[in-house]
Amino acid sequence: MANHPTLFLLFKIIIIVSFILIQSLLATSHPPNPLPLTLSVTDFGATGDGTRYDTVPIQSAINSCPDNLPCHVTFPAPGKYLTGTVFLKSGVVLNVEAGARILGGTRVEDYPAESTRWYVVVAENATEVGIGGGGVVDGQAEKFVVRENERKKVMVSWNETGACLGDECRPRLVGFLDSTNVRVSNVTLYQPAYWCLHIVRSNNISIEDTTIFGDFNIPNNDGIDIEDSNNTVITRCHIDTGDDAVCPKSSTGPVYNLTVTNTWIRSKSSAIKLGSASWFDFKHFVFDNITILDSHRGLAFQIRDGGNVSDIVFSNINISTRYYDPLWWGRGEPIYITSCPRDATSREASISNILFINITANSENGIFLSGSKRGLLRNLRFINMNITYTRFTNYAGGLLDYRPGCQELVKHRTAGMMMEHIEGIEVKNVEMRWSKYEHEQWNNPLEFKSSTVNNISFLNFNSRSKSS
Ligand SMILES: *[C@@H]1O[C@H](CO)[C@@H](O)[C@H](O)[C@H]1NC(C)=O
Ligand SMILES: *[C@@H]1O[C@H](CO)[C@@H](O)[C@H](O)[C@H]1NC(C)=O
Ligand SMILES: *[C@@H]1O[C@H](CO)[C@@H](O)[C@H](O)[C@H]1NC(C)=O
Ligand SMILES: *[C@@H]1O[C@H](CO)[C@@H](O)[C@H](O)[C@H]1NC(C)=O
Ligand SMILES: *[C@@H]1O[C@H](CO)[C@@H](O)[C@H](O)[C@H]1NC(C)=O
Ligand SMILES: *[C@@H]1O[C@H](CO)[C@@H](O)[C@H](O)[C@H]1NC(C)=O
Ligand SMILES: *[C@@H]1O[C@H](CO)[C@@H](O)[C@H](O)[C@H]1NC(C)=O
Ligand SMILES: *[C@@H]1O[C@H](CO)[C@@H](O)[C@H](O)[C@H]1NC(C)=O
Ligand SMILES: *[C@@H]1O[C@H](CO)[C@@H](O)[C@H](O)[C@H]1NC(C)=O
Ligand SMILES: *[C@@H]1O[C@H](CO)[C@@H](O)[C@H](O)[C@H]1NC(C)=O
Ligand SMILES: *[C@@H]1O[C@H](CO)[C@@H](O)[C@H](O)[C@H]1NC(C)=O
Ligand SMILES: *[C@@H]1O[C@H](CO)[C@@H](O)[C@H](O)[C@H]1NC(C)=O
Repeated sequence: MANHPTLFLLFKIIIIVSFILIQSLLATSHPPNPLPLTLSVTDFGATGDGTRYDTVPIQSAINSCPDNLPCHVTFPAPGKYLTGTVFLKSGVVLNVEAGARILGGTRVEDYPAESTRWYVVVAENATEVGIGGGGVVDGQAEKFVVRENERKKVMVSWNETGACLGDECRPRLVGFLDSTNVRVSNVTLYQPAYWCLHIVRSNNISIEDTTIFGDFNIPNNDGIDIEDSNNTVITRCHIDTGDDAVCPKSSTGPVYNLTVTNTWIRSKSSAIKLGSASWFDFKHFVFDNITILDSHRGLAFQIRDGGNVSDIVFSNINISTRYYDPLWWGRGEPIYITSCPRDATSREASISNILFINITANSENGIFLSGSKRGLLRNLRFINMNITYTRFTNYAGGLLDYRPGCQELVKHRTAGMMMEHIEGIEVKNVEMRWSKYEHEQWNNPLEFKSSTVNNISFLNFNSRSKSS
């Protein structure tokens, strides 16, 4: 009895594969675009009851897909499919139906030996892979909480395995490593125990209509990390998470061509952050039509390791930033551009050709632009911006934030725009509006020294109190 579904399935596969073969034999001039084969994990014995592990049936379904042909592996609704790491292979797209949920295992034995492969769903060295279908991939982060703490939750660390050190030793949610032609579309990525969606050394990635819900109090709950990868498009996403929401990083190679559009972001750290891992270049990024709400920092560059940054455009962006507990990186800056050597062994890097156009901000702190002696910021342009400065929390201000590394936190009055070590800055059609506030550390629209800022131009710049 138990074998009947499998036999039927085998039969189904044979029919479909023969159909595809006949199709290709019939096609003389154009290669066919074969219809994807669809397999359901329940046909392989998955229970979807949320308590029994479905790891083996899920992996059998994926492994039964014909090599390098398009294949959809369906998780039918309703159902909760508890599983250890799911390994995708080329051609496979997971179709998690609306009302279905993949539940990531919470035991160390649910994951492979190497911590670099700790994901609930991972594709390694694959092409034409993805996830979609309208359902949920759930990392069950709450089961990794050791202790509730109102400043920052304390999480499990699997460091006793020796697989990794310190307190950042727990699984990520979804990873595409060394892969090409990746599509994540119409899926909710929920409560990752650590980072959420991680793209590594990959090319041609599309992330669409994807919702990310992390936990506002769980450390390292990043949204999307784009590492050493080229040609990524992120659009129509909704990201609400504790740590950095969209975070390009470079560790072993550069990041080229990243586009993020029509997206909504809330983060207790940076909404968009380049770095801080920045060993190679970041080049040719576009961020357009983005709403950033209630974040600790808006648009951020944390360049620390020698990789140069150039040709980045931010357009049509509304930002609201505020202070949170200083355990979380950010000081309420709507825009934050810093390049400084992380430590004595680090190289300095430049940040050049950066355009901000059509930006509205409502923030508890000013814009911070800081190069270092040989790590200049070059050719920065700020055009069409309305910035309202208001204090609405009681956290103390008056700190310049160079973290990580460099000078760390420095006590200093902050200003509407704080600038150091810049060559070429243009400010055009920019209006600062100041609300009344009692905090003395913050009352100066512009701060820069002629010795470190050269070629600065203001056209139609206006600073006034909000009531006038
Ligand atoms: C990656 O895939 C290609 C093609 O399938 C194969 O030749 C290569 O050995 C794989 N590399 C690794 C590291 O698995
Ligand atoms: C997402 O998937 C659901 C369920 O299949 C579907 O109803 C909805 O239209 C899809 N949304 C998008 C944006 O594709
Ligand atoms: C292991 O993780 C725990 C909990 O975060 C931490 O206190 C401890 O220092 C870590 N030990 C090592 C060797 O990294
Ligand atoms: C990029 O990947 C998509 C699948 O997500 C594919 O349809 C498209 O052809 C790829 N583009 C290139 C240039 O290979
Ligand atoms: C990204 O493009 C750069 C520049 O062409 C190249 O050196 C790098 O290998 C590419 N990375 C990937 C993952 O394809
Ligand atoms: C980046 O995109 C441009 C087209 O806009 C393309 O010519 C270039 O090859 C891409 N770079 C990489 C490394 O893929
Ligand atoms: C901007 O993005 C929002 C979704 O966040 C979308 O509803 C709107 O249509 C987009 N506007 C434009 C001009 O594309
Ligand atoms: C920003 O706010 C303005 C009005 O305050 C609105 O017209 C515009 O569509 C908003 N843009 C985004 C990206 O939310
Ligand atoms: C950054 O630019 C400097 C100056 O052009 C160059 O020496 C350095 O090698 C570049 N860094 C990288 C990672 O290519
Ligand atoms: C800034 O406000 C002015 C009105 O004071 C408005 O005309 C302009 O469109 C606004 N610019 C942006 C980028 O929102
Ligand atoms: C900036 O906004 C104006 C109108 O508010 C619009 O005409 C222009 O195309 C926008 N610029 C960019 C680069 O989106
Ligand atoms: C001054 O800076 C602007 C950009 O802000 C740049 O276009 C121009 O070439 C610079 N001029 C000189 C003399 O460096």
